[in-house]
Amino acid sequence: MIDLRLESVRRQATRVRTGDLESLAVLVDPARAVLVCDPEVRRLHGAKFPPCPVVEAPRGEEGKSFASFVTLAEAFSGLGVGRRWTVVAVGGGAVLDLAGFAAATWLRGVDAVFVPSTLLAMVDASVGGKNGLDLGSLKNQVGVFRPPREVLVDVALLDTLPDAEFAAGMAEAVKHGVIEGGAHFAFLEGLGRARPSGAALGELVGRSLACKARYVEADPFEELPPEAPLSRRVLNLGHTIGHALEAAAGLGHGRAVAAGLASICRFQASRGALPDRDAERIARLLESFGLPASVAETAALAGLDDDPAFRSRVARALPADKKRDGSGLFASLPAGIGAVRVERVELAELSRFVMEAP
Ligand SMILES: NC(=O)c1ccc[n+]([C@@H]2O[C@H](COP(=O)([O-])OP(=O)(O)OC[C@H]3O[C@@H](n4cnc5c(N)ncnc54)[C@H](O)[C@@H]3O)[C@@H](O)[C@H]2O)c1
Repeated sequence: MIDLRLESVRRQATRVRTGDLESLAVLVDPARAVLVCDPEVRRLHGAKFPPCPVVEAPRGEEGKSFASFVTLAEAFSGLGVGRRWTVVAVGGGAVLDLAGFAAATWLRGVDAVFVPSTLLAMVDASVGGKNGLDLGSLKNQVGVFRPPREVLVDVALLDTLPDAEFAAGMAEAVKHGVIEGGAHFAFLEGLGRARPSGAALGELVGRSLACKARYVEADPFEELPPEAPLSRRVLNLGHTIGHALEAAAGLGHGRAVAAGLASICRFQASRGALPDRDAERIARLLESFGLPASVAETAALAGLDDDPAFRSRVARALPADKKRDGSGLFASLPAGIGAVRVERVELAELSRFVMEAP
């Protein structure tokens, strides 16, 4: 009889630090690096790239397709990317997810270095090791956990980021503020409507990264029981309804998450599990950053407010969530600002809410 026990070593350390994009040239050996970005980021910031080959992926969600992955793999093959090479990704969450997946699977895994260039990628997508591709309209359906070796945070890259993209990143930043509560949430409320810069921007990114890092450290592979206080699923706050809105409205990730966050708070308030005033405070904060804070606003933004089938499409998109469990799903639910837990909810109850929600 054979009875072996192999301890798998899946952990890999990630160093996250601030630094200029120009300092990439000392972080990686340009002779053994390939840089992945989209055409816009290359146009705006390509002059600061290290002297290594550059492979372009399509902008936005289109970049997370199997076709883009094949293009990347063929480019790696043509360049002779070997085991000791580094895949450097400079871009938003879509480029990081695609390049991270390519790095994780090329030759069964090579190092990756991420330089996030959107606020959303800085506060969220760059850290945590989740990467992957979409399968048609099914977001992140194919992917692996493999963290980058380094994340270089250069907030100066955000100077060229359009306001709408900046606001999208604020959705994930507000999510972190709701999870942390206290001084973190108060800091966000104190930002006002003007786009933060300088020390305030640094603090915004730092606070979010600290929040995300705490959950990722405690539960790197999302293996803790859902109800554990530091379950990584807590970070899914706003994403259960958010992903369904994203699929049904075709809006970008950040705006869908904002509306999803405000909606899950109202859902909780409607069942007496969150004070109304907290739900409204969170919605007001999202609105102050120019984000949609309801299902109706999302429909209007997507030009679908006259479409009677919109809400049914959102409700139908809910079960596609990867956190599905029989007739219910595990959702990250706020019981207060700074008190977020994962609990099982019946899909029928959530669907009913989506059909009637503001
Ligand atoms: N892996 C994770 O943990 C994780 C977490 C959150 C989100 N995501 C994923 O991230 C993606 C969304 O990321 P995103 O919001 O960064 O959008 P994005 O990657 O689609 O980028 C948005 C746009 O910003 C442009 N851009 C990027 N940097 C710029 C800059 N400095 N100046 C001007 N324009 C710039 C890009 O060209 C693109 O058109 C989604 O696919 C989402 O699923 C992943």
